[in-house]
Amino acid sequence: MQVDDLNKVVDGTFKGLDKGLKTFIPSFVPREVGYVKSVSAGIVKVSGLPGAGFEELLKFPGDIFGIAFNLDEEEIGVILLGEVAQINAGDEVERTGRVMDVPVGEELIGRVINPLGEPMDEGNAITFTKRLPIERPAHAIMDRAQVTVPMQTGLKVIDALIPVGRGQRELILGDRQTGKTAIAIDTILNQHDKNVICVYCAIGQRASSVAKIIANLRENGAMEYTIVMVTEGDNAPGLKFIAPYAATSIAEFFMEQGRDVLIVYDDLTHHAKGPIGSFLLLRRPPGREAFPGDIFTFIQGCWSGLRI
Ligand SMILES: Nc1ncnc2c1ncn2[C@@H]1O[C@H](COP(=O)(O)OP(=O)(O)OP(=O)(O)O)[C@@H](O)[C@H]1O
Ligand SMILES: [Mg+2]
Repeated sequence: MQVDDLNKVVDGTFKGLDKGLKTFIPSFVPREVGYVKSVSAGIVKVSGLPGAGFEELLKFPGDIFGIAFNLDEEEIGVILLGEVAQINAGDEVERTGRVMDVPVGEELIGRVINPLGEPMDEGNAITFTKRLPIERPAHAIMDRAQVTVPMQTGLKVIDALIPVGRGQRELILGDRQTGKTAIAIDTILNQHDKNVICVYCAIGQRASSVAKIIANLRENGAMEYTIVMVTEGDNAPGLKFIAPYAATSIAEFFMEQGRDVLIVYDDLTHHAKGPIGSFLLLRRPPGREAFPGDIFTFIQGCWSGLRI
């Protein structure tokens, strides 16, 4: 009796498989594949992808991505978003057909992530429902609301002498170790109970100093309303380059829901250093005209926040 049952089950399974095989119609999916010509610090030259668009995401072996930055007739200059050591000349490169985007959402609050949306803390993997491109058109100046609500830093002397408002941008300039980061972190701590979401974007800093900042935010209960985006000094220049853009898209997601957001870019000197090296390797002039991410264009393009 039991053998019969087993036979029935096996027969049924094979019948199902046969049916599946008969109804399966293989379809051809075109896949554009190029190959790596040369590799240098953070930069890869790729040939054989004539259809690739500007700023398109290209996929390298080992799930490493890069952004197509220089589109020449013969080759493409790509800024890598992963470890360059894992890429070799001759490796296959695939087009993805999409531009760089970043996962956004409420799930990110309280988390420490990298610009690709991968968790950097001990927490579980983050499940996302929405992604936003990192390059988005900025709202026109005339569309922006007037600055009417104060954004208090909690430092009496700053709030009294140079008050900052919600929707305003403020640049913090100063020599090394003069307390620029301290002002930004105090401001985040001061947003407790003020219904402001904070995004702290650490660009190319030492892991130990970022760890101290995160510990400070945790200790004071500020992680309940803060998202920390981290790129460390030894990360790929591409990751450092996209970090402020990715953080801005995350902040804009909350802004579009009508929430108030404070975003801190700490610091843009490190941001400038990464792309300048990459642009030189790509044989682009490293001056203002070639450098989309410097603080001046950034200030024009962004809508809010404190800047360091
Ligand atoms: N108001 C203050 N009074 C005393 N010490 C301070 C004050 N603000 C910051 N510090 C101390 O000064 C040091 C440098 O601060 P911080 O890291 O904020 O400077 P920074 O300008 O961001 O430096 P960097 O240019 O390296 O990023 C830290 O050890 C910090 O604890
Ligand atoms: Mg600092």
